Amino acid sequence: MREDYTPSSSAAAPIEELVPDYVRNFQAYVPSKPDHLLMREYGAPFLHRLNNNENPLGPPPAAREAIAAHPVERLSIYPNGDSFELREALGRRFGFPAEQFLVGNGSTEVITSIIKAFCGQGDNIVTADKTFAVYEWVAEFSGIEARLVPLRDHAFDPEAMLARLDRRTKVVFVCNPNNPTGTYWPAGVLVDFLERVGERHIVVVDEAYCEYVTKAGYPDAMTLIGRFPNVVVFRTFSKMYGLAALRIGYMVGSAPVVDAVRRTCNTYSVNTLAQIAAKAVIADDGGHVERSRQMVQEARAYLSKLFDALELPGIGGEGSYIMVKVPINDTLMYRRLMRRGIMVRSMTGFRFPGWIRVTLREPEVMACFAEAFSNEIKAVRQAS
Ligand SMILES: Cc1ncc(COP(=O)(O)O)c(C=O)c1O
Repeated sequence: MREDYTPSSSAAAPIEELVPDYVRNFQAYVPSKPDHLLMREYGAPFLHRLNNNENPLGPPPAAREAIAAHPVERLSIYPNGDSFELREALGRRFGFPAEQFLVGNGSTEVITSIIKAFCGQGDNIVTADKTFAVYEWVAEFSGIEARLVPLRDHAFDPEAMLARLDRRTKVVFVCNPNNPTGTYWPAGVLVDFLERVGERHIVVVDEAYCEYVTKAGYPDAMTLIGRFPNVVVFRTFSKMYGLAALRIGYMVGSAPVVDAVRRTCNTYSVNTLAQIAAKAVIADDGGHVERSRQMVQEARAYLSKLFDALELPGIGGEGSYIMVKVPINDTLMYRRLMRRGIMVRSMTGFRFPGWIRVTLREPEVMACFAEAFSNEIKAVRQAS
């Protein structure tokens, strides 16, 4: 302790004074309560979660077998600290050296690592105003400015984003396809954007839902890493591969970028079961991807028809979700649907007031949603 420093003897030392303004002013995300409490609170006989874009088919068979075969006694052993075997498997599958992958406790952890690696005080990140909010949140609670560029026709606007870049822009986040609008940049738009950005900024292409996209013009950003060493691609095992509970996702980029990000990572944050399950599904998805795609496509067609019949505007491009505009406040609609056992995402928090987002799932659950939603819309219209 320095000699000219005396700790305050005041008993009521205000803890808030230790908290930087950017942390104090940050509104923390409130996770939902467990199902049994929600069912009691809303008097719902069951609960279908259509709020988090989870895959109801669960993990592919190979992941289930790998987890079941793992001896319980071995849970006393720390996981491999840098997902060594999984990175080797990813390298074989995608044609990069294993060193170019970095695995995290969900791809959300990798967002934090990348911002820590590249952004210091006074720097900024650029992304859209209506996209996956974690880019913005991590920047904000780290004291980094998040520049949010309005969507254009529900899609990321490349021109407007380029106009917001400056010397202090370190990372640009592009969500492709975008959560929640389902729009995506085709290959030509992405390549043109990267050419114009140059190499002065890291460009993250978040492909959390890429496995659901079957359109011909949809780009695989991994193929651009060789040409643009500032490109980083995010993927996750939480969506298509049904491993959300195990928390595992990864980034892939050029060696110098990954080397920088690796310095800011927590070793051991990715558990053993997650690593072995992910490795198993990379080797063999057992038809799971095709089954999931089909389920989602059928659900999208079914709900689009429903929203048309109810004369409600929808936004539903790619990904395992669809949005619909409701004639009342979206939080109110959330509560009304909760009483019927349906949990959707109310979208005010995504800057889409008056909209809800619905996860595309299996036919029985979609029919259950359709009945509850139609009844609520009818009731709202009768009352007005
Ligand atoms: C666009 C996008 N990126 C990343 C994630 C985070 O995925 P993970 O579960 O790997 O943290 C999500 C999850 O909702 C997402 O929608």
